Amino acid sequence: MAANNRSANLNVQHRKGFVLAWVFGMVALLLAPAAIATKYDVNAPTGTHEGEDVAQPIEFPHNIHVKDNGINCMYCHTYARRSKVAGIPPTSKCMGCHKVIATDKPRIKKLTEFWTNKTPPPWKKVHDLPDFVHFTHEIHLKKLVFDRDFPVENVKEVCAFCHGELENMTVAKKVKPLNMGFCVGCHIANKELGAPGDCWKCHK
Ligand code: HEC
Ligand code: HEC
Ligand code: HEC
Ligand code: HEC
Ligand code: HEC
Repeated sequence: MAANNRSANLNVQHRKGFVLAWVFGMVALLLAPAAIATKYDVNAPTGTHEGEDVAQPIEFPHNIHVKDNGINCMYCHTYARRSKVAGIPPTSKCMGCHKVIATDKPRIKKLTEFWTNKTPPPWKKVHDLPDFVHFTHEIHLKKLVFDRDFPVENVKEVCAFCHGELENMTVAKKVKPLNMGFCVGCHIANKELGAPGDCWKCHK
């Protein structure tokens, strides 16, 4: 457990930031209507973020894939249920459809070029926590989806807790703060599900 005590290494300036973040988080919690219940008995986190467009090598329209064509989030983000990261799908997965679908469209021509050249499109990160924060998709999805027999075809509702409604986005944006107040607020609201409040759980 030698390298575990990361929060102890954070300097004084960080602590000030933390105290502020904590205070804001607590104020937000007090002001928020207590326990906004979703369709099932998990309290959704509160808070929004003013997301910016991130310039991607190809503008990837989540709306067309998710809303218009009903493709499940986890069909593309396959690692979400079994690892820390959700993962970005390889071009081969895109080409399973786009060898034949919309081949005349400029963006699909560009995609095909990446495929032919055997170089993955250099997707840029939209969400990126600082390195001193520990987060894992697997445990959250296990607890929030699989352990509760929540229908997997509706998993996007749970992804939306932390990522907003990708199904309506023409370009992926960060629309939830994903800061400490956001995470801790949800952990407090879902304490009975085992969400930890200990600093070291999130700051290894
Ligand atoms: C057809 C495949 C596909 C489907 C279906 C899909 N995605 Fe994506 N997703 C991608 C690709 C490709 C990217 C990278 C490009 C980008 O960030 O715009 C991405 C990016 C993202 C990002 C931003 C990643 C980052 O860098 O932080 C999030 C969050 C995300 N997807 C969530 C979802 C959710 C939630 C759903 C279901 C509502 C979904 N995706 C469905 C392919 C897909
Ligand atoms: C399961 C099939 C499927 C997969 C997998 C898939 N797509 Fe698509 N994609 C579609 C369909 C259907 C459309 C809508 C085509 C149309 O409007 O004619 C589309 C549309 C698009 C468009 C918009 C084209 C335009 O200009 O109108 C882009 C860009 C795109 N896909 C990129 C990707 C990328 C990148 C991946 C891999 C991360 C991917 N797609 C994976 C089915 C798929
Ligand atoms: C409890 C909050 C939470 C939930 C629920 C959640 N995510 Fe994430 N997601 C995050 C955070 C935080 C990051 C940034 C991680 C980092 O930077 O280390 C992230 C990053 C991502 C990324 C970028 C690549 C990666 O894995 O780092 C994708 C894609 C993504 N999430 C997709 C999804 C999908 C799809 C779902 C639903 C199946 C989902 N997420 C559910 C919090 C969440
Ligand atoms: C929807 C509410 C919710 C949100 C939002 C949320 N969590 Fe959690 N988190 C949980 C629950 C519930 C658990 C308990 C899972 C379990 O023990 O099975 C948990 C567990 C964890 C764990 C413990 C994992 C382990 O190894 O035991 C960590 C670390 C964690 N969350 C970090 C974060 C971070 C960082 C964020 C913000 C980016 C975040 N969480 C956002 C509900 C949430
Ligand atoms: C549920 C997860 C979670 C728990 C529990 C948690 N933190 Fe954090 N903490 C975060 C996240 C996420 C950030 C990153 C905030 C950001 O990027 O804006 C953070 C940031 C910080 C920072 C840096 C602040 C800054 O301004 O950069 C410090 C210091 C910190 N936490 C200390 C603590 C202490 C002390 C505790 C215990 C009282 C604690 N944290 C508990 C998730 C957590």
